[in-house]
Amino acid sequence: KVTPVILSGGTGTRLWPLSREAYPKQLLALAGDRTMLQDTASRVGDPKLFTKPMVVANHEHRFIIAEQMRALGLDDTTIVLEPFGRNTAPAAAVAALVAVATDPNAILLLMPADHVVRDPAAFRAAVERGLVAAHEGRLVLFGLKPTEPATGFGYIEQGDAHATAPGSYSVKRFVEKPDRATAEGYLADGAYLWNSGIFLLPAQALIDEFQKLDPSVLAAARRALDSAGRDLDFVRLGEDAFRDAPSISIDYAVMEKTDRAVVVPADFAWTDAGSWSSLWDIGAKDRSGNVVAGETVIEDAKGCYIRGEGQLVAALGVENLVIVATPDVVMVTTKDRDQDVKTLVNQVRAAG
Ligand code: GDD
Ligand code: MG
Repeated sequence: KVTPVILSGGTGTRLWPLSREAYPKQLLALAGDRTMLQDTASRVGDPKLFTKPMVVANHEHRFIIAEQMRALGLDDTTIVLEPFGRNTAPAAAVAALVAVATDPNAILLLMPADHVVRDPAAFRAAVERGLVAAHEGRLVLFGLKPTEPATGFGYIEQGDAHATAPGSYSVKRFVEKPDRATAEGYLADGAYLWNSGIFLLPAQALIDEFQKLDPSVLAAARRALDSAGRDLDFVRLGEDAFRDAPSISIDYAVMEKTDRAVVVPADFAWTDAGSWSSLWDIGAKDRSGNVVAGETVIEDAKGCYIRGEGQLVAALGVENLVIVATPDVVMVTTKDRDQDVKTLVNQVRAAG
């Protein structure tokens, strides 16, 4: 069986002012009734294929997360708590070490908590295809057809079909977050796929790759677990040891360098719901292409994302704007500038 590992450590700065440090986006119900964390856990709820999940998250969010998992009937979820974020590589290393302690052959499905997958059946089929290569000790990436030269994703150059694992292909190259010109070249080339950010990983193989490619991550993860406190289903990583972990993503630490990766091309209608325009993309639109939520009154608006939480937003004759109001902040931008919302957040932090 496959052990789902949900990474829920991001703060979701680009979805400010709704997403806050105390309540990041993956713990909010932004695109439906359930939170993104709950949607992610539900996607891997079939006990025929999956064991109970593990969640790796910040210490501050432990009660919200435990409560959201309980609401799904997943009372016995293992929740690994980081004293602070060190990006995804240390989190993944810890998850692999926790998993091999109970099952040396564990296979992890590493998933971000903030992805919207609109075709769960296609997602599951892709995981099952990937399992063949994972059982052979391969690190399996899921590649999606790029539709624009986005610079916020990893790019995978797809090679030849894998000899013994149908549906898997060799990875000629992995490039995390290339610049615009490079991304345009990859799109034109046609052989490149976006990295979905979801990985199927034999835990021991991942540990071996960390040992080879970035042993400092593994060493810190190991010591943080050795010094961990355990109560209820919480595993609290040792703070001093975890501080020594370099802050690096699994993409830079492992995926760009490993020669054990394969890619499974997939199509599960996926969005990294990381910004307001991505929520506009996936949201239900009115006849003028607006996505509205909460308390709003709009007239002659076109292509907008408008959300009133705790106060009314009234908008007239506007186009392609993002307007999000919370009790203490009103944020207005255009859909094509919304990647830069984090610069506003930085200014607010500096002022506050
Ligand atoms: N536990 C934990 N601790 N989780 C973390 C941490 C951390 O310190 N930092 C980030 N995460 C979680 C985030 O909450 C998110 O769910 C996931 O790990 C991925 O982090 P992102 O920061 O969202 O990564 P990204 O979107 O910039 O890039 C990754 O995903 C892209 C697809 O969405 C890369 O894998 C890219 O190659 C990929 O294309
Ligand atoms: Mg992301």
